[in-house]
Amino acid sequence: MIVTIDGVAASGKSSVSSGVAQALGVPYVSSGLLYRAVTLLGLTAGADLADASALLPLLPGVRLEPLASGNRVWNADHDLTADLHSTRVDGGVSTVAALPEIREWVDAQLRALPDPLVAEGRDMGTNVFPHAPHKFYLTASPRVRAERRAKERPEDIPAIEAALTERDRLDTTQSAPAPDARVIDTGPLTLQGVIDTILADLR
Ligand code: ADP
Ligand code: CDP
Repeated sequence: MIVTIDGVAASGKSSVSSGVAQALGVPYVSSGLLYRAVTLLGLTAGADLADASALLPLLPGVRLEPLASGNRVWNADHDLTADLHSTRVDGGVSTVAALPEIREWVDAQLRALPDPLVAEGRDMGTNVFPHAPHKFYLTASPRVRAERRAKERPEDIPAIEAALTERDRLDTTQSAPAPDARVIDTGPLTLQGVIDTILADLR
């Protein structure tokens, strides 16, 4: 069984997926972390983030560890996870995610994982696992999302809201609800409320 949870930036995908996966007793995978890892390695190497041929040679050692408590990404024996949510990575990741060769690489990593699992990102329900029987798509207004993310970033709420809105725009191509996804506005709900809504739907 595969459950897909897609949605716009900072809509709660990873927190909700972690909660749903823990309730089901299965792993969850955060596809955005792989795009973030490619971006971090590209920035560190001084590579052109719009050039897939400069990025792909950096990736053979990259591995996603789908821990229930929070996914980790490794490059050989170096844990990249703590550096994946910086403002610098936020700013470059949509450029990397627009590259078809990088999307193919991420998709192959995800499809190699054994099910059952909960998969979250932008195109889990539309592209990576189109046959998943349970699909959800999370939304919330840009202001609500910026207020939530402000607790995790040094910038002020208007700056975060502008960056989120710009990233949504750049991600439009790959971020849309699957026709058979249930769309959930998380704005009026608590985190546990979103998790319970999904669990009730699964039952
Ligand atoms: P995403 O994976 O979509 O970027 P996160 O899971 O990182 O989103 O969630 C962003 C923040 O919003 C987290 O700190 C999360 O706990 C918080 N949050 C607060 N209320 C909610 C809610 N109702 N639904 C989802 N997330 C929420
Ligand atoms: O939740 P947030 O948008 O902050 O971050 P994320 O889920 O970690 O995704 C980071 C970026 O990766 C997105 O802005 C997209 O550019 C890209 N992404 C994607 O294109 N497809 C996915 N399935 C997941 C992420």
